[in-house]
Amino acid sequence: MQVRFKVVRQNQNSSPSIQTYTLEVEPGNTILDCLNRIKWEQDGTLAFRKNCRNTICGSCSMRIDGRSALACKENVGSELARLEQIAAQAAQVPAQEGQDALLKNKGGQDAPPRTPADGIPEITIAPMGNMPVIKDLVVDMASFWNNLQAVDPYVSTGARQVPEREFLQTPEERAQLNQTGNCILCGACYSECNAREVNPEFVGPHALAKAYRMVADSRDDQTESRLEQYNQGTAGVWGCTRCYYCNAVCPMEVAPMDQIGKIKQEILERKNAQDSRQIRHRKVLINLVKEGGWIDERKFGLQVVGNSFRDIKGLASLGPLGLRMLAKRKFPLSFEPSEGAAVVRSLIESVQNLEQQSAQESQENPEKL
Ligand code: SF4
Ligand code: SF4
Ligand code: FES
Repeated sequence: MQVRFKVVRQNQNSSPSIQTYTLEVEPGNTILDCLNRIKWEQDGTLAFRKNCRNTICGSCSMRIDGRSALACKENVGSELARLEQIAAQAAQVPAQEGQDALLKNKGGQDAPPRTPADGIPEITIAPMGNMPVIKDLVVDMASFWNNLQAVDPYVSTGARQVPEREFLQTPEERAQLNQTGNCILCGACYSECNAREVNPEFVGPHALAKAYRMVADSRDDQTESRLEQYNQGTAGVWGCTRCYYCNAVCPMEVAPMDQIGKIKQEILERKNAQDSRQIRHRKVLINLVKEGGWIDERKFGLQVVGNSFRDIKGLASLGPLGLRMLAKRKFPLSFEPSEGAAVVRSLIESVQNLEQQSAQESQENPEKL
């Protein structure tokens, strides 16, 4: 079958342009196979990273039809099927605006037309986001590595009792590290992270997934200082806007957003002050979801960081972030409650009632604990 590849090409500090290459391919060919053939048979100047060709090294991350993925993992057949599914979903959305939103890639390019004029399907390839382009599909990953370094991603051996022996773990302790240990540092999550897009302080999902790996590691003796560090401002876990993109694109199912949630839980379990920003964060989140079915982002920062106009310093710190969000069109100017708000509210209330009952029972019968 013939497939047309639209590759976004760019030199450092210049504007991108799209170059088109057509190949005769099999559905099972990976996107990386196709890029190799383009480079070897049609255009030796095309630049992209690759190494293992086996979903191991993490080198070949790029945006394929609008979402970051490994070029050696995705193949032509499954990619075209995915595009057809997106187009079919878009066709079911009545308003033209809704269709445009569904078809719009996160990378800013429009998805391929549902029926290309000449019948040749198209796949669009672009460099990863949130990192400057060096050439074509090769991005400068310096900030990605620096942010990883910032979370101190090494097991501290201070707790080792007998330095010359192996530091043993039980199988259960080792199992705690399986999911986060799968990270191949490909950068896909970082590329799609909405928080990184507007907040240059935020270390990113890959770094925080690694941070949780350190917190969960039974050999590490720096848990308290690590939690203190990951709890700082919006650089650590509280900078995440829970957009879920990192979970959605991670090719190794590391689920960075879930790991961020686990760090938050560890922090909250150590906090007694009901008025701390962290506790407020969780309370405001629940109250806003109860109110509108989903989060009204306009109120969220004001109520958490600005403590409902009571924390002047916190309020002032929101200014620059708000401006950056406005500039990137990430700041919602209006809020529409979810259609299912009543159902969401009743679910939350049921859980809260159950929690209250169980707390009451524990007080009345402490021996049951
Ligand atoms: S968490 Fe997943 S997406 Fe992010 S760098 Fe690791 S493997 Fe890649
Ligand atoms: S869930 Fe958080 S860390 Fe993950 S991509 Fe969204 S903002 Fe970034
Ligand atoms: S080339 Fe190594 S992960 Fe794709």
